[in-house]
Amino acid sequence: MDKLFDIKEKVVWVSGANGQLGHSIVETMTERGAYVCAIDLKSKDWQNDSVLSLSADIRNENEVIQVFRDAWKWHKRVDILINNAGVSDFEPFSERTEERFDWVMDVNLKGTFYCIRNYVANCIENGSKQGNIINIASFYGLVSPDPRIYTDCARKNSEVYGATKAGVIQMTKYFAVHLAKHNIRVNAISPGGILNEDNPQGEDFQKNYGLRCPMKRMAKAKELMGAVIYLASSASTYTNGHNLVVDGGFSAW
Ligand SMILES: NC(=O)c1ccc[n+]([C@@H]2O[C@H](COP(=O)([O-])OP(=O)(O)OC[C@H]3O[C@@H](n4cnc5c(N)ncnc54)[C@H](O)[C@@H]3O)[C@@H](O)[C@H]2O)c1
Repeated sequence: MDKLFDIKEKVVWVSGANGQLGHSIVETMTERGAYVCAIDLKSKDWQNDSVLSLSADIRNENEVIQVFRDAWKWHKRVDILINNAGVSDFEPFSERTEERFDWVMDVNLKGTFYCIRNYVANCIENGSKQGNIINIASFYGLVSPDPRIYTDCARKNSEVYGATKAGVIQMTKYFAVHLAKHNIRVNAISPGGILNEDNPQGEDFQKNYGLRCPMKRMAKAKELMGAVIYLASSASTYTNGHNLVVDGGFSAW
């Protein structure tokens, strides 16, 4: 069983690595012996020899190309790409500016696309025999946010966020089909709402969320790690084009 879920010495590139979920992914993977190239808008001192911190804005394809070149030089190998960087806008839809709409589209969809395209180019150019892409989508790519639960939460989720996450789920299927000939698997994880321990969502919101969710609470970032390890390891060698929903059953009713 240990061997099945083994990710020791795998080389993993993670976008949005400095954020809440990204941080947990980097920690979990390095604790299990993987080498992680942690990509975000700004580099950061991880104080961990198994982490290479690099900066790039994934909206800009030239920056993605450059950061992947630098990442490749580290171990001259890449096993897994985790597209985790994602943003949302929280204003009511009637106030959404074109600039904010484009920003969410550009990070969540275009940025994910640029990372996939250039990871694949890298795999082909370097003769990799296999690849593995994990896209972080969202349960809001499946269901609408329920406006009744956002009483004291300023972070009301937006139409554009859900649309991009639905797009990420669809893009996962597209690439799962089109990259299978290169032996590259592509899957998504759709987390439910994750409690932000540093900047908690409103108390009322958390209570309402608990009433709406069969598991009666928000997720902890660590509770997503089983899904990440499953998709990253050889436990999932025949899993392709799947969207693994980890939302405590929120979207089940
Ligand atoms: N937090 C939740 O409740 C939740 C729920 C479902 C899905 N998700 C998804 O999980 C992923 C991680 O979310 P999080 O909660 O950790 O968010 P977060 O805001 O804590 O982290 C996102 C990270 O992405 C980085 N980033 C933003 N724009 C970037 C760009 N242009 N180029 C490179 N990096 C960029 C940010 O600097 C940040 O470090 C996102 O895709 C998000 O949509 C989160």
